[in-house]
Amino acid sequence: MELTRTLSEFSIQRKLLKAQEIGFVPTMGNLHAGHLSLIEKSLKFNQVTIISIFVNPKQFSAHEDLDKYPRTLEGDCKQIKELNESHPTKTIIVFAPESSMEIYPENFDTKISVGKITKILCGKSRPAHFDGVATVVHQLFQIVKPKTAYFGLKDYQQFKVISKMVQDLRMPIELEALPIKRNNEGLALSSRNKFLSKEDAQNALFLSKTINEVTAMIKTNGLPAAYDLINKKLNEREWDYLEILQQDNLSPPQHEQEKLIVLGALKVGSTRLIDNTLV
Ligand code: PAF
Repeated sequence: MELTRTLSEFSIQRKLLKAQEIGFVPTMGNLHAGHLSLIEKSLKFNQVTIISIFVNPKQFSAHEDLDKYPRTLEGDCKQIKELNESHPTKTIIVFAPESSMEIYPENFDTKISVGKITKILCGKSRPAHFDGVATVVHQLFQIVKPKTAYFGLKDYQQFKVISKMVQDLRMPIELEALPIKRNNEGLALSSRNKFLSKEDAQNALFLSKTINEVTAMIKTNGLPAAYDLINKKLNEREWDYLEILQQDNLSPPQHEQEKLIVLGALKVGSTRLIDNTLV
């Protein structure tokens, strides 16, 4: 595993790879089993895997948790090295910019803004979030030039936003989304789980349990019964949203035969958690 901390250092490494097909796993670090599953997948299908570790300031608004977002580069590299040891013929390059200037040079003044799909769900309470995500992912795609990029399905809306950007801007990159990883109790793995106290971690289970109940209700009793259940659950906790939408375009469903997804965002203590299940 090679660690690079500046764009110029990374670019030298990238040039050496020439036209090799590259798998790319963009992350904000603090790697957990969800990230590791993306890296494993990339290692399986690509000779070279590039992992970026960058806590992107543009996707946090002023009152959010940018400063306290966990930064654990040493531990992350240790985990990546171990993975590389079990795939010794594969090359891994980690790009962990030492400062935001490596990604956004002075006077950087461009924003990638995907349309309608960024205005719903998480986009309602985090209005600048998806512009920040699209801008950094676009920037990273330009720098890394991957063949395939891997994302986790926990951030389902994020995956849809990036897919739309890639499609609309005709970026020659394949995207793959991998299933959510959960702890033994069903809580979706997230770097933000670090912020949960023991009591919060118990309360957080309400999120996945509710999503499972709504999913089961759609299957057994149909959409009207599922909406009744949602209305009941919305009164029981501090939800940002709990919705049933179409998987394809995140618009409201017409009938239960469509491919649907149940998505929720729940405030637990001072932490906001998201989760979803494909129906
Ligand atoms: O999902 C994340 O970790 C981030 O939003 C991403 C895609 C790395 C962009 O900063």
